[in-house]
Amino acid sequence: MECSSLRHLRAGTVSNALRVCLALAGVFLRVVLETPPAPALVRGPYLQRPDDRTVEILWRTSSILVGSVSYGRPGTVFRTASDAAAAQAHAARLSDLEAGKIYEYQVFGDGAPLSPVLSFRAPREAADDEIAFAVVGDTAGRTVPAQIASLLRFTSPDLLLHTGDVVYPDGRLDDYDPEFFGPMAALLATTPVMPILGDHDVKTADGAPFFSVFDLPDNGLTAQPRYYSFRQGDAEFFCLDVESSEYGEDSDQYRWLERSLAESTAVWKFVTVFEPPFTSENSNVVERLILSPLFERFGVDIVFSGHEHLYERSKPIRMFGASGKPVTYVVEGGGGASLSSFDPEDFSAFVAAVHGYVTVRVSNDVLRLEAHDAAGSIIDSVTMRKGADGSANDASPLAISEPPPAGVSAGRR
Ligand SMILES: [Fe+2]
Repeated sequence: MECSSLRHLRAGTVSNALRVCLALAGVFLRVVLETPPAPALVRGPYLQRPDDRTVEILWRTSSILVGSVSYGRPGTVFRTASDAAAAQAHAARLSDLEAGKIYEYQVFGDGAPLSPVLSFRAPREAADDEIAFAVVGDTAGRTVPAQIASLLRFTSPDLLLHTGDVVYPDGRLDDYDPEFFGPMAALLATTPVMPILGDHDVKTADGAPFFSVFDLPDNGLTAQPRYYSFRQGDAEFFCLDVESSEYGEDSDQYRWLERSLAESTAVWKFVTVFEPPFTSENSNVVERLILSPLFERFGVDIVFSGHEHLYERSKPIRMFGASGKPVTYVVEGGGGASLSSFDPEDFSAFVAAVHGYVTVRVSNDVLRLEAHDAAGSIIDSVTMRKGADGSANDASPLAISEPPPAGVSAGRR
């Protein structure tokens, strides 16, 4: 039989132990509740604005912190580019890059690594006669964009042109991550993307979300770079806006394009314009009548469009007089949106309603274009060679005799 003092002592020990346990649980709960989750990437990193010896890396984090990028050539001492202040949206401009060389980089938040070590090719200098780029458009449905990104990642293009309709259905900011940056993350982390506005992209606040996520080259005219140009190697790219900007002959954009094409010293000239001037589905004839004379006058080699959800390559077309140069029109709108129907036109060299993407490789005076389906198989290809007159489209150009009507003008839709 226990004496009463011993029972008392045991009861006291239990109650003390209970008190200690409760105190420890409280501390644990407080630690759990008060410790913020580890910062994480919620977008990116992704590359923008390949320019003379510079490229920009953008990313977004789950919390406000000081971001930085460590970067350098493999096997060398890395440099660091940091945010000026703590933020959730981060952008670092990497400078003094050796043109055309492969670099590695890693993104940090408050000094802790947020991304694995990734790589990219530094922008090519003007004298470089090699360049490779890819073209996608109308990216929708997540599965096809993800498939295209994983295939293109292994071909390592220098840049990715997007022909518009980046985010369905309405270009809302909340949809950019699940519909575009997420599915295409693997490619966007290694390859600068240079997009234009599609009709779906301007449905929300005239495209404001598009400009909040993409940092594009200034055109010196408009607050937001709705149209812009940039040079990579011996190629210059002219990226137009026919969805939210005027493009008639008396518009700023038309005069800017005319001046920019006239001043270009690049051997190869490419245009992206959302609605196709020539397609077997639904050609934008107003664009054709206003812009194609400029394309022919200044020797644009290929005009890339989206909007129609198919792949199409035109024969070389010269429509506005013998002094102009024939132009090839390529539609790549097969980024995942439901496919279009078509009725083949005479000017069509190849057309197929298929999901996929285009790759272009330029080497000196030879260009090789390949169209792929979403599994990576080549469905169409063409080789173009620069002639003495600077035209790469001199193989039996298709002359269409449709004179431009006087006084044609165009404005935003
Ligand atoms: Fe579309």
